[in-house]
Amino acid sequence: MIPLHLKKAHLNRGRARIIVEKPFGYDLQSAEELNRIYASVFDEHQIYRIDHFLGKETAQNLLAFRFANGIFEPLWNRNYIDYIEVTAVENLGIEQRGGFYDTAGALRDMVQNHLIQLVALTAMEPPAVFNADTFRNEVVKVYESLTPLTEEDFEEHIVRGQYTASGNKKGYREEKNVNPDSRTETYIAMKLGISNWRWSGVPFYIRTGKQMPTKVTEIVVHFRETPHQMFHCAGGNCPRANKLILRLQPNEGIVLKIGMKVPGAGFEVKQVTMDFSYNQLGGVPSGDAYARLIDDCIQGDPTLFTRSDAVEASWRFFDPILHYWKEHPDAPLYGYPAGTWGPLESEAMMHEHGAEWTNPCKNLTNTDQYCEL
Ligand code: BG6
Repeated sequence: MIPLHLKKAHLNRGRARIIVEKPFGYDLQSAEELNRIYASVFDEHQIYRIDHFLGKETAQNLLAFRFANGIFEPLWNRNYIDYIEVTAVENLGIEQRGGFYDTAGALRDMVQNHLIQLVALTAMEPPAVFNADTFRNEVVKVYESLTPLTEEDFEEHIVRGQYTASGNKKGYREEKNVNPDSRTETYIAMKLGISNWRWSGVPFYIRTGKQMPTKVTEIVVHFRETPHQMFHCAGGNCPRANKLILRLQPNEGIVLKIGMKVPGAGFEVKQVTMDFSYNQLGGVPSGDAYARLIDDCIQGDPTLFTRSDAVEASWRFFDPILHYWKEHPDAPLYGYPAGTWGPLESEAMMHEHGAEWTNPCKNLTNTDQYCEL
């Protein structure tokens, strides 16, 4: 209703702009309704829908990494990539936001916006010129190419979890303003597909969760294995596939895992890390994501804001999941002890592809520590 009041007060005229914080809508229908209301008051170019992940320097750098370097593009497709992981997990619970969170859950809070935005940056085509329209056109194309989910996917390729008490950490249902019988998910892992020439057959595994062992946001690109391994592996450990890790936060950086010969006699190979850390650019990306986005809005640059068609395209893809859960209140919701990597079922989902989640900080004892790339 706020936009309608702004209209009454004539605050929608001239160079007026409005910033709208996520979540934009509660499902497809409410998002369409909101878009209609906003469109009756503002022109699309006046509306700035924030997804603060796009304000992160490291998210923007994904575009530079892909499109300012010639060597990755030929490899960036189904011929060379086996699967991709997108992870955004946190070691916090829901803090003081029980009232909001219990009506939202991880799918609405993180997946429908932040995670899918990262999928788009990873999967999109390069626009011929870079501007707000061309960039956002490519994002929408990714959302529209997401392979629609089937009943089988709801059952087998989506894993919902909720954290339970562990050590001195409360379980989700004990949190303030949370229904003690709540079936709201605090963890979700999903397998997605993108039906286009570049990505057909390449699974994108995405996950987010509260009360995980650490906070980390990263994209891991798993390249296909070498067709044949003729060397011995040092210590029996030489994965035949290269892996590129784009760490968005914390200890921001990019690493490439490659096989190298162990010095000395014979031909033993070991996987080593070639790395770039933002510290090398004189420090971690400056500024807060919100500050950057608000500044962009003041400058009138909508590039890093979500357009109405993208919001709706994303909801079109995720809405059936919400319906399915509503119609099947007994659909599995797995408990996981706070401070762990989520339900084991999400590992099982990866095993189907002969894969496993890259869980950084496996050996971390102090969760405030940054885990190695
Ligand atoms: C917000 C979610 O949009 O993103 C929060 O509502 C989440 O639940 C936060 O904690 C994560 O953002 P960041 O920048 O800390 O990774």
